Amino acid sequence: MTDNTAVADGTEGSDGTAADSASAAGPLLSVEDLVVEYATAQGPFKAVDGVDFQVPRGGSLAVVGESGCGKSTLARALVRLLKPVSGRIVLDGTDIAALPERRLRPLRRRVQMVFQDPYGSLDPHLTAQQIVAEPLRVAGVSDRVQRARRAAELIDRVGLPSSALERRPPEFSGGQRQRIGIARALASRPDLLVCDEATSALDVSVQAQVLDLLRELQADTGIAYLVIAHNLGVVREISTDVVVMRAGRVVERGATAAVLASPADPYTRALRRASLDPTTIRGVKPRAVLSAAAPDAASPSSPAAVASASPTAPATPLAPATPSSEGNRS
Ligand SMILES: Nc1ncnc2c1ncn2[C@@H]1O[C@H](COP(=O)(O)OP(=O)(O)OP(=O)(O)O)[C@@H](O)[C@H]1O
Ligand SMILES: [Mg+2]
Repeated sequence: MTDNTAVADGTEGSDGTAADSASAAGPLLSVEDLVVEYATAQGPFKAVDGVDFQVPRGGSLAVVGESGCGKSTLARALVRLLKPVSGRIVLDGTDIAALPERRLRPLRRRVQMVFQDPYGSLDPHLTAQQIVAEPLRVAGVSDRVQRARRAAELIDRVGLPSSALERRPPEFSGGQRQRIGIARALASRPDLLVCDEATSALDVSVQAQVLDLLRELQADTGIAYLVIAHNLGVVREISTDVVVMRAGRVVERGATAAVLASPADPYTRALRRASLDPTTIRGVKPRAVLSAAAPDAASPSSPAAVASASPTAPATPLAPATPSSEGNRS
């Protein structure tokens, strides 16, 4: 079993380069029996309910599943925007699930997230250069010139012209903004990028370009991906392995090609049908296909039913997305 103290001591105060050789043979990320809850007016709601999977070094794993099944909650727990109630998130040998912030900080740079809506996640008042340089400042690169040079390299790396450096998010297209989001995420040289529907808001041709970029980056740098998607077409493009979630649990897993060739779970079959529907390539969620395939999604008490009744809102109109484990249990 890994000793957190030893690993944290090994990373704190270092330059944060990938780590601890003792664990180098294992997977980059191992998620074990992870549970994440939200405090709701009805009590704690398990949005992630005992999930297990691994992401190999330099590999890619896709997480798919119907709307509301817990994908974003899982992603937010992996980058510790949410603190899990129980389970382990073992990053390169260190269980980060319950690490206090002080000990988590040196590891944060190693897992970065790219969000679905780059517009919402990029400060519209900052230039692209400032946006991309900010994580460098946080990581302790105190030399402004050095930060600016690295930001320029990253902007170039994601395929934007140098003229982009002085422009602000509203002056970019959706695909360009997503490239800036990716450049920002790469700034701290992470080992793992968690992409939560990073391409689903994009037009299909732009989506393909961003997927190409992600593939190139992986070939060049060995970065690993955890890619959340609704669309099995995207999964096929980017990921060798896939897990399928439903109502907070993993219901199917395997090599992408095998799962797509003969999906076992009704939800996976429905997703597969949806992925053959060209409208879903643009990010339309295959709710109709799924509810037809899954009778229990109609059960009023199932999280799936709650989610489809209210696809964008939480199950109840709750205050901040604070997991109950962080003291908001009511
Ligand atoms: N802050 C919150 N408080 C309470 N419940 C929440 C909160 N955020 C999400 N939920 C609920 O947790 C469940 C999982 O939500 P999550 O956003 O993780 O789903 P998702 O799989 O990412 O869905 P989508 O595909 O629509 O993005 C849903 O039932 C949702 O209503
Ligand atoms: Mg989501």
